[in-house]
Amino acid sequence: MRVAVIGAGYVGLIQAVGLAHIGHDVVLAERDAERVAAISAGRSPIYEPGLPELLSATLADKSLTVTTSNIDAVAGAEIVFLALPTPQGNEGEADVSAIFLVADELAPVLPEGCLVVTKSTVPVGTNLEVGVRTGRPVASNPEFLREGSAVTDFMKPDRIVIGAQDRSYVDKLVELYRPIDAPILVTDLVSAEVIKYAANGYLAARVTYANAMANVCEAVGADVRDVLLGIGYDHRIGFSFMRPGPGFGGSCFPKDTRALVKLAADAGYEFSLMRGVIATNEEQLARTFAKVVAAAGGDVRGSRVAVWGLAFKAGTDDVRESPALAIVGRLLDAGADVVAFDPQATVPGISAAPDAMAAVDGAEVLLIATEWPQFQRCDLQAVAARMSGSAIVDARNLLDPTAVKAAGLTYTGVGR
Ligand code: UDX
Repeated sequence: MRVAVIGAGYVGLIQAVGLAHIGHDVVLAERDAERVAAISAGRSPIYEPGLPELLSATLADKSLTVTTSNIDAVAGAEIVFLALPTPQGNEGEADVSAIFLVADELAPVLPEGCLVVTKSTVPVGTNLEVGVRTGRPVASNPEFLREGSAVTDFMKPDRIVIGAQDRSYVDKLVELYRPIDAPILVTDLVSAEVIKYAANGYLAARVTYANAMANVCEAVGADVRDVLLGIGYDHRIGFSFMRPGPGFGGSCFPKDTRALVKLAADAGYEFSLMRGVIATNEEQLARTFAKVVAAAGGDVRGSRVAVWGLAFKAGTDDVRESPALAIVGRLLDAGADVVAFDPQATVPGISAAPDAMAAVDGAEVLLIATEWPQFQRCDLQAVAARMSGSAIVDARNLLDPTAVKAAGLTYTGVGR
């Protein structure tokens, strides 16, 4: 099928390469010419395991082409995916102006009968508005890609959600995804738009529950790992996605939880549970920062603090809304001398060591902020020898407290 994808961000790039890989003829449009040049040359602008190989293959067999022109991209397209940024607006709502700008630009040139599909996470009613502006049939097909496993999540999704006004539009999308083996849920437009927010809202709440239980465990002297294991055996709860940490971040949860509260409020429902998730998440960041200050004896001014991890989670180079970055900012504001190391992420203005061990040289405190596996395998004796102080704040519960203490270091974890 001839498909256009508008927007080569984390979602659009994966959608375009993925659809090309499963046999479609895809044109990806991106307004940033440098990004187009990099992608056309087979250089992925994002770190995603498996993406470089797919990108090269789909460029080589010409199933994927890239352009800076939205108008060229939609020529002859049977389906047009809008994968544009929907950042958080001032009131917490999703800013969908980029979606409507492109809808208005393309309206005069979209092929007759072409289906316009919104891939971006958008508030209720956005798809209908896109239909009005383009005069074309619309469908909602939200993505559930996790950064760091986006290619796998595209090829082996837990489910495909299609929201449409008319069954005939659904059939076109079912045909498009035929090579992918996954359950397809067909629903109406509004429900499909809500499903995406409901998923991220629940997942953010689940992580936050784990973080809050960790804090309870700290208060009463319990071990959160055993507590979460103890409840996880209940088949209704399970073990996944409940690893305590510095709080959730990334380009989705912070934005989507706020947009969910806003869209509910605008419709007359006060989503106090989700407000509580957002507030608890902010607290988790503050608690983690406070642990580093306490580990430095109550004041980090002039202290060297080593920070392992800047990305918002392991497996990605993305630092958007990263808790690690937020904590580094607070440490710098408090006068600490921060040296960071992240295997993938770099941030201008933050002093970066060439490797994890170099980062701890002369450090009074070591903060582990992102769960990169290599940090778990560190040589604790070597860490102890190279630090000037002896405190480790393990915000991801990566290390074994007994081993840390055996190396002559003090250990502060999350909930244990
Ligand atoms: C999320 C959703 O998982 C995905 O389905 C959606 O399409 C986009 O948003 P992503 O933001 O890439 O994906 O990251 P995710 O793996 O969900 O983690 C989100 C945040 O929660 C990260 O900061 C991560 O560190 C944190 N987290 C996640 C935890 O602290 N503990 C966990 O057990 C899981």
